[in-house]
Amino acid sequence: MSSLNLQESKTVPVSSNDHSSDIGQEAEPFLYERSTPGRRAIRFPSWKKRRPISGWIPDSFLRKKAPPLPELSELDVVRHFTLLSQRNYSVDTHFYPLGSCTMKYNPKANDRLCALPAFAKAHPFQPDKTIQGLLEILYDLERMLSEICGMDSFTLQPAAGAHGELTGILIAKAYLHSKGPEFSRRNKVLIPDSAHGTNPASAALCGFDVVTVKSNERGRVDLEDLKKHLGSDTALVMITVPNTLGLFEDRVQEIAEEVHRQGALLYMDGANLNALVGLLRPGDLGFDIVHVNVHKTFSIPHGGGGPGGGPVGVKKHLIPFLPEPRVVKTKQGYKLEEDGRHSVGRLRAFFGNTGALIRAYTYLKLYGAEELRDISEMAILHANYLRVLLKENFPAYVDQSCMHECVLQPAGLGEVKTLDVAKRLLDFGFYAPTVYFPLIVPEALMIEPTETESKQTLDRFVEAMRRIAQEAKEKPDWVKQAPHTTPVRRLDEVRAARFPNLRWKPNKEMRDE
Ligand SMILES: Cc1ncc(COP(=O)(O)O)c(C=O)c1O
Repeated sequence: MSSLNLQESKTVPVSSNDHSSDIGQEAEPFLYERSTPGRRAIRFPSWKKRRPISGWIPDSFLRKKAPPLPELSELDVVRHFTLLSQRNYSVDTHFYPLGSCTMKYNPKANDRLCALPAFAKAHPFQPDKTIQGLLEILYDLERMLSEICGMDSFTLQPAAGAHGELTGILIAKAYLHSKGPEFSRRNKVLIPDSAHGTNPASAALCGFDVVTVKSNERGRVDLEDLKKHLGSDTALVMITVPNTLGLFEDRVQEIAEEVHRQGALLYMDGANLNALVGLLRPGDLGFDIVHVNVHKTFSIPHGGGGPGGGPVGVKKHLIPFLPEPRVVKTKQGYKLEEDGRHSVGRLRAFFGNTGALIRAYTYLKLYGAEELRDISEMAILHANYLRVLLKENFPAYVDQSCMHECVLQPAGLGEVKTLDVAKRLLDFGFYAPTVYFPLIVPEALMIEPTETESKQTLDRFVEAMRRIAQEAKEKPDWVKQAPHTTPVRRLDEVRAARFPNLRWKPNKEMRDE
């Protein structure tokens, strides 16, 4: 048997001759399937001596027969969920090079601080004077983000990157409206074709017409195409830096000049700020508005929909339009204040996603300015390390130095496609990279190794990728049928997307019981 020790703790069979690898792990049954009649986790006190249940709940709402719930011991339940949790891929257990998502290690100190009762048990309606510590953190975090991004102020309210975009665009809209009819008539938002899908969605949600700007052969915004679309009807231009190809928009200052010459605002999608912290500030490049994904850049456990934070930074002229209330510092301490004159209003209940914000604050305090710069440099180094080592079978879409991630395409792998490579990686104990994004790159394989992985892990990943390329040439069917070692093999993804079955329902037998 040939085997490749890809993880310290696990030797994964990789050969098609090894039949054990074809079997996979057994699928864990549903709790309903584990049910044994009469088994109990807890016993409730008898109702007999008390008031009958019909005295509490009207008869019409009472069930005629017991619901078909699984009957299990506490141990059955604990084993079931522990086992499922161990089958998950997570940053704490696996290399997770999911491009565009920045799945870096999340220091546990962040969680510990955020769980302190003063934060975790704070009630959002507590008087300001009883949550001075929390308000101080929010105030300081706003200032730290302003410093890192070269902006004049920040709001911490948005709960994610897309929510930050919505907030930023609403701010731009309110500002343009405040400047009179000549500006408020501007109805177009210009967005490059490589942008994250949330950019056009957010602009459309704010009532703007979206105009797509082409990328050039270097994977950057095509300046000539941008100029063609820019005009007196342009409200905003949204640029992602580094862009979704992992490349630095090297003509961004020229873009800023053009945009401002036309009286429009320039917005930076700063979701990928993890490649820039300590190296370069959006405000210095000429951006009026920026949102940052704190869950990506400042390391907050995320994925599968959150929780996160998408603070928005603005230059001076836009400060009056920031969401309210704002945390202000007075001689008597910190307090929440709103004047309601120009603000776009409240975008999120209470103070924003406080847990995520405390984690971001802790991360910034843990590392300090110099280390934050090292972190960005290391993220860039790791992405370029993989880009160069994988060149032979997976060349980069744009063959140039990248920032924190690289977008590759399989070459010479015959009928083996990106999806097959991603599935096969699961057998080697790696979470798959992002596939088929950005949309402008056919067969895209988007790899973001992050700075927190060791060279040994990156080398094992390279070894696995090379092995897959070799298999693609020698026994393509083996790759096309992967994964071989996961509890569930290939799913019918089209069917799952078109007819999602998200709720367990009892089968007929159970219903009739
Ligand atoms: C470039 C870019 N823009 C916007 C977003 C949206 O952020 P969120 O998923 O937090 O809404 C992402 C998410 O990763 C992103 O990578």
